[in-house]
Amino acid sequence: MKKIRFGVVGLGHRGRELAKIAVLLPDVEFAAACDIKPSNWHETQWLSNAPFSEMFPKTDFYESYDEMFDKANLDVVIVETGADIHAEFCVKALCKNINVLSDIPNVANLKEAEDLWKAAEKSSAIISTGANPNYQRFTVLLNEFYKKGLLGKPYCMEAEYIHWYMPKSEDRVHLNENGDWRKLLIPIRYCTHSLGPLLTILEEELRYVSCFGTGNHADTDTNKKDDMMCAQFKTESGVVVRLMRNGRCRADIGHHNYRVFGTEGYMERIERFEKPVIRYNSQKELDTSLKEINGEFMPPEYEDNPDAKGHGGIDYAMLDYFFKAIKNGTGAPISLREGLAMTLPGIYAEESAKRNGEVLRMKYPWDADWTTEI
Ligand SMILES: NC(=O)c1ccc[n+]([C@@H]2O[C@H](COP(=O)([O-])OP(=O)(O)OC[C@H]3O[C@@H](n4cnc5c(N)ncnc54)[C@H](O)[C@@H]3O)[C@@H](O)[C@H]2O)c1
Repeated sequence: MKKIRFGVVGLGHRGRELAKIAVLLPDVEFAAACDIKPSNWHETQWLSNAPFSEMFPKTDFYESYDEMFDKANLDVVIVETGADIHAEFCVKALCKNINVLSDIPNVANLKEAEDLWKAAEKSSAIISTGANPNYQRFTVLLNEFYKKGLLGKPYCMEAEYIHWYMPKSEDRVHLNENGDWRKLLIPIRYCTHSLGPLLTILEEELRYVSCFGTGNHADTDTNKKDDMMCAQFKTESGVVVRLMRNGRCRADIGHHNYRVFGTEGYMERIERFEKPVIRYNSQKELDTSLKEINGEFMPPEYEDNPDAKGHGGIDYAMLDYFFKAIKNGTGAPISLREGLAMTLPGIYAEESAKRNGEVLRMKYPWDADWTTEI
């Protein structure tokens, strides 16, 4: 069987991690890598024992994305450039009919959303959204319980993504500040990890948003981004979703929390101070008390797979689903539409915060009244 030739653009920490996991999959070949910083290829980097050039001697390295396309004969490109510059790389690949796995958020503004949507419509290749939290155990069980009717219809949901940040601690500072996008990205724009899982059980888009930012308090010596941002969204049918995201804060807590209130039950994943735990209860069961389930990310399907690595196994699951879809021609595991539905609310929320919480109506490229104006 012909191997699927993949390339990675953006060899920061994330691009390197995904390449290392992708090579564990069958029938997949790491054909090419591209970064404008050659040191990411030729020098030993964080969490590696050797340079990538030594670890993958058969892989070709390019400093130019265009040159990689011209020479590497790729079937797939994995886009791992900074979080605010994915779309231009995805559009180029789609125009050349090369399949794409795009990290999230998919786009940085509404014009990019339009361009990417049009490029995907014209292309014979697929673009899949690299939303790894959609593979976590919580999302899998949420969908299972929802489909069984245990939760009924969700009417209120909340999520928070509080990334630890300790300004004065050398070993921990990197995660919020180690790349340009981490320094510059407005916190609420990184909403995809939170909204993605919740949107899998909503049969409609988020339509309205109001958002506020706190201003800069936790550490005033470098940039002026809001430390915390709080958004409330509503769907056309009236489902309310609340989201809190941090830029900086002094809480050494992690990470991803979710709560779902449904007409027949309740479900949550909480990891504020303890080992992450999923709890649920349902009026549809004989025992209606709150039950606990292990809340680690590892998707149940991959529990016995020793290769299932990366963010507790969800990176492996995401790559496995993606490459199987390419091999079997079954379409994107997480579509561009799903990706934009979890990405655009952050763009509108940022604008709402700039307008002191003004309620904005959100549009998507598949809407009849779509426009790139807000
Ligand atoms: N889903 C997750 O769990 C998760 C976790 C962390 C990061 N991410 C995503 O991964 C992506 C990368 O994150 P990171 O922390 O590795 O970022 P990073 O800034 O460390 O790496 C990005 C790399 O892209 C390269 N680059 C920029 N412009 C380029 C160009 N024109 N051509 C080729 N290379 C170019 C940069 O030189 C850099 O090495 C981001 O989009 C982020 O959202 C996802």
